[in-house]
Amino acid sequence: MANTTHSAKDRVVIFDTTLRDGEQCPGATMTLDEKLAVAELLDGMGVDIIEAGFPIASNGDFEAVSEIARRTQRATVAGLARAIPADIARAGEAVRHAQRGRIHTFVSTSAIHLAHQMRKTQDEVIEIILKTVTQARDLVEDVEWSAMDATRTDIDYLCRCVEAAIRSGATTINLPDTVGYATPQEYGAMFRAVRERVPNADKAIFSVHCHNDLGLAVANSLAGLEGGARQIECTVNGIGERAGNAALEEIVMAIRTRADVMPYDTGIDTTMLTRASKLVSHAANFPVQYNKAIVGRNAFAHESGIHQDGMLKHSETYEIMTPASVGLAKTSLVMGKHSGRAAFKSKLSELGLSLSDNQFQDVFERFKDLADRKKHVYDEDIEALVDENRATAHD
Ligand code: KIV
Ligand code: ZN
Repeated sequence: MANTTHSAKDRVVIFDTTLRDGEQCPGATMTLDEKLAVAELLDGMGVDIIEAGFPIASNGDFEAVSEIARRTQRATVAGLARAIPADIARAGEAVRHAQRGRIHTFVSTSAIHLAHQMRKTQDEVIEIILKTVTQARDLVEDVEWSAMDATRTDIDYLCRCVEAAIRSGATTINLPDTVGYATPQEYGAMFRAVRERVPNADKAIFSVHCHNDLGLAVANSLAGLEGGARQIECTVNGIGERAGNAALEEIVMAIRTRADVMPYDTGIDTTMLTRASKLVSHAANFPVQYNKAIVGRNAFAHESGIHQDGMLKHSETYEIMTPASVGLAKTSLVMGKHSGRAAFKSKLSELGLSLSDNQFQDVFERFKDLADRKKHVYDEDIEALVDENRATAHD
């Protein structure tokens, strides 16, 4: 029986697919230079594997994968390939000059895909797996095989496919939730079942790859770790097909912040997360939602009086991680109609404005009136209120 418990701090491999699955997000196409800049940052940040593209898809993708493979010093560079000999040959060619190159090949395994997309029988797909994984393994040492739509695949058949892929030389087995359908409990159980039932399961690293159609991509990825997976496929800002992929920054910070219940190590320099988010948002021309966990503009911003008061007394009252840990300069206390006296006092002193108690009372009331009318109260508005108070006092 495969062991699903983990030792003190298991290393989890971070496989970033921003440049492949992320780029499949409508409108997110990146130029070669943008891809090179993202790949360099991912490598510097400590990502283990960079999936740089889908070499057969276009000459541009081939060029991007080859160039990233040539330049990347530390991370493994992967190229995607369908279970088609020409795809695999092209991916092999693209990663040929990498210090560490990987071919990532995939085929659908669910009944719905076999019947309507592949139009193949289960036995025919097993034959395809045996041939294509063997072909990939003849080209590179490091071969990942993915069972597309694994979460909607009959578990007995999925086990047969995984067994065939490992027998043919796959070193990583990825079981994607391609359509974002699984629940965390189901996803974790699938890994447990496959690892227990496939006789050669211990010869491969298992990988999670989750889409966010039900908003469960990160929760499912973490549940996959509990089921014994040790590689996570994710994208910066969670960009990807439809509702996107599991967000790298959320996974990494969840593991770091809740190390008490998830004793894993990712090797990521988390202080680079904010920079990575900004770079990818700019390159993919894809804005980050304001309330996005970890990297959204509001992730470390507080407006309510109670929260601001708490934050001024002790930052752990309302923050479970520091802004510095994700590479952000500081928390922001946003001045608005929910702000209280403590935060307003602190803002005045930040602006170098000192007021008597009477003046403070008057300016605070003016501020509350203004905040009722205006969505954002800026520093200049507060300075103007203080000037108004001083002018009235002199009349
Ligand atoms: O979502 C998916 O199944 C994929 C595969 C190509 C791994 O992106
Ligand atoms: Zn995907």
